Amino acid sequence: MTYDVSRRMLLRGGLGVAATGLVAGFPAGAAAAPGAAPTAPAPTDADVSGVPTLDPLVTQRADPFVTHPVDGTYYFTGSVPEYDRLVVRGAPTIAGLATATETVVWRRPASGRLGGHIWAPELHRIGGRWYIYFAAGDSDDVFRIRMYVLESALADPRDPAGWQLRGQIRTEWDSFALDATTFAHRGHRYLVWAQSEPEIAVNSSLYIAQLANPWTLATKPVRIATPTRSWEVQGFAVNEGAAVLVRNGRVFLTFSASATDSRYCMGLLTADADADLLDHRSWVKRPEPVFVSNEQTRRWGPGHNSFTVAEDGVTDVLVYHARDYRDITGDPLYDPNRHARVQKLYWDADGTPLFGIPVGAGGPIVRLSPADASRYTFVRHVGSTVVVDTDSRALADTQFRIGAGLAGADTVSVQSVDQPGWYLRVVDGAVRLDPARDDAGFAGQASFHRVPRANGRVSLRLAGVSSAFLRHEDGRLTVGPAVPAHQSTFRLT
Ligand code: AHR
Repeated sequence: MTYDVSRRMLLRGGLGVAATGLVAGFPAGAAAAPGAAPTAPAPTDADVSGVPTLDPLVTQRADPFVTHPVDGTYYFTGSVPEYDRLVVRGAPTIAGLATATETVVWRRPASGRLGGHIWAPELHRIGGRWYIYFAAGDSDDVFRIRMYVLESALADPRDPAGWQLRGQIRTEWDSFALDATTFAHRGHRYLVWAQSEPEIAVNSSLYIAQLANPWTLATKPVRIATPTRSWEVQGFAVNEGAAVLVRNGRVFLTFSASATDSRYCMGLLTADADADLLDHRSWVKRPEPVFVSNEQTRRWGPGHNSFTVAEDGVTDVLVYHARDYRDITGDPLYDPNRHARVQKLYWDADGTPLFGIPVGAGGPIVRLSPADASRYTFVRHVGSTVVVDTDSRALADTQFRIGAGLAGADTVSVQSVDQPGWYLRVVDGAVRLDPARDDAGFAGQASFHRVPRANGRVSLRLAGVSSAFLRHEDGRLTVGPAVPAHQSTFRLT
């Protein structure tokens, strides 16, 4: 049964109401139904995915790298705007990295080799030792960029005393080489990096090889990706900044493309986990980019990502940099404001990663999945229309922020992530997504009581109306009684 919350009924106060004009047309002073379920404030990051939504996480740290927790500590490193040193910070939580003390663990020499630009460090724990993979130019040519490895036997990678230069990673070509990352898979340790190959007329392609030790190739480089598509050759023809995630029987390899301005974006290569990773035919490049600038959330040039996991040890976290403005004066490499950011990485029903959009600032993000449907069924907006479906490729239009209610008091409001400033609201019995208006009517229509349910689920009751709960009905979002409960209860994922 759909509860027809028509304006006429609202005006006659026919619904038995709570008060204080929370919803236009309701008499002040009416109380919620006796025994109404207790309500709760807006959820916190911990209530939802455990992925911090502090954005940015760390300012002016490009190419950000966050380790998985090692003995309970996350370690962070990244490029500094001066490109002159390597820094490490650590904290027991990802959010804690924002304010953690940062230690300089290595500085470039005043002249000679490695005296040029210092780029894109990564921290890896291999065989009980720490390694930093980074790229360095020379003092007489800061762009004579080659790959190098530092090693430390100390337990804490923040201790500068432990770091020793193990040397340059040499490949087939003495050419521009950078952005090395390493991963272990099926008993082998691999290196993936970006390099300018003499016969390939692009700025950099991606290569893979097995390692004999953390700084020595054991096999010949195999080119697995070259920039050819328009989104890869804007400004510079670049495939760089590889990061690897093995999930769901596949090896997912993200990379970044184009110049480091607002055209910088991320692509995805996928290989079967059982494939020969040294066979270039094993790697399939997604034709379109997976993560690009977003005008609405005001995040430009997202890329050079890494992956970590949230404190639950399960939720995958995308770590990346982006600016919060589009236009840059001068060379983007010398614009310092590629800030480090993190957001939840989602997966669709077939085990493919969903990157969505750079979500920007604004607090905890949820997807509302009705308890009476599959866990891949979500509330989704198409412009102002609100539907409930399983469009498996959709992500951004299913993401919402449940924050402090526009009607104040103990209410929450549900704001779109990809349409900031647009809110779910109840109008003449229908649920829509509309841009906020600064009036009590809109506030009342767009404010709800968050009613906690079992297993972290939630119901949302229209503020001031004792039995107008958001409900899933046949692919629509309606309002009506809380029963049957599974239609008015939502997983927050
Ligand atoms: O941030 C410095 C360099 O810029 C990184 O190594 C590379 O990924 C990007 O092009």
